[in-house]
Amino acid sequence: MLNLVAGDWKGTGVALAWAALRAGQAALDAIEQGIRAVESNPDDCSVGLGGLPNLVGEVELDGAVMDGRTRAAGAVGNLRGYAHPVSIARAIMEKLPHVMLVGAGAARFADEIGAERAELLTEDSYRQWQAWLGKNGVDAANLGHMPLARAAWAAMDPQHAGGTTVYLAQDAAGNIAAATSTSGCAWKYPGRLGDTPVVGAGLYADNRYGAAACTGIGELAIRTSLARSTVLYMKMGMSVEEAVHEAMDDMASLPDWRAGGLTLYAIDAAGGHCTVGAYKDDRDDSPRYHVAAGDQSQPVERDVTRLDV
Ligand code: GLY
Repeated sequence: MLNLVAGDWKGTGVALAWAALRAGQAALDAIEQGIRAVESNPDDCSVGLGGLPNLVGEVELDGAVMDGRTRAAGAVGNLRGYAHPVSIARAIMEKLPHVMLVGAGAARFADEIGAERAELLTEDSYRQWQAWLGKNGVDAANLGHMPLARAAWAAMDPQHAGGTTVYLAQDAAGNIAAATSTSGCAWKYPGRLGDTPVVGAGLYADNRYGAAACTGIGELAIRTSLARSTVLYMKMGMSVEEAVHEAMDDMASLPDWRAGGLTLYAIDAAGGHCTVGAYKDDRDDSPRYHVAAGDQSQPVERDVTRLDV
């Protein structure tokens, strides 16, 4: 059954991805198109063009794909200067005997496949970075020499952790895929990878059971192997709702003040889905997600179920 769940906070790519699925395209093709649209949207400050930079003002992108037919996966991390990490991740999966490339090697491979280059730092994201430095008393001229560790802690604010884009889909042939893309948490330590490119943490897809992906503070998803755990719970017999709640309860039990900053999205192989976000008491907004299934003509936007932690 056709199924699409997207954590795409501006909804940039959801109509495109759903139209592709309805036109009979493969799940992976549909979600890659959806995510590419988000990566090109300068108004989404957590992904691709216009993504907020790291502490030293460089936009570093992460992305991944997983094909539920074969459990093949591709991932890219710490990528600078390319427009579409999701497509580079897919090419890694399809053209290399590897799963993940980062940094200079990822850029080399991106050039080998003719990936589109882009200047990702926009005027607006530059201004936001400057404002953050100013608020925290950091002089941009010193960034090359000063230790950054303290500033990295100051930057880990769950309310501004960044909004990864995640897409999960099942196509008309029953195949399931997952894809992710992000610029990571704003003002991160250079070289930091979150969960987005980490298969098993930020995403997982298995045709037999379903798929899962995460947005929010990636360190939490890495420490709990959150996406793989969710699919494994389904394999062990839980419904998608039970699996998501079990995985989120485990994440929320981490002794970490940031445990209120993560959302988990999952679909099952029968067309069901569940999304749950963990929130601290002081957060009163609810992230939204987009969903479409069966013969629905357009995706609809809904509130993520809230888990107070
Ligand atoms: N979930 C995105 C990140 O932590 O980078």
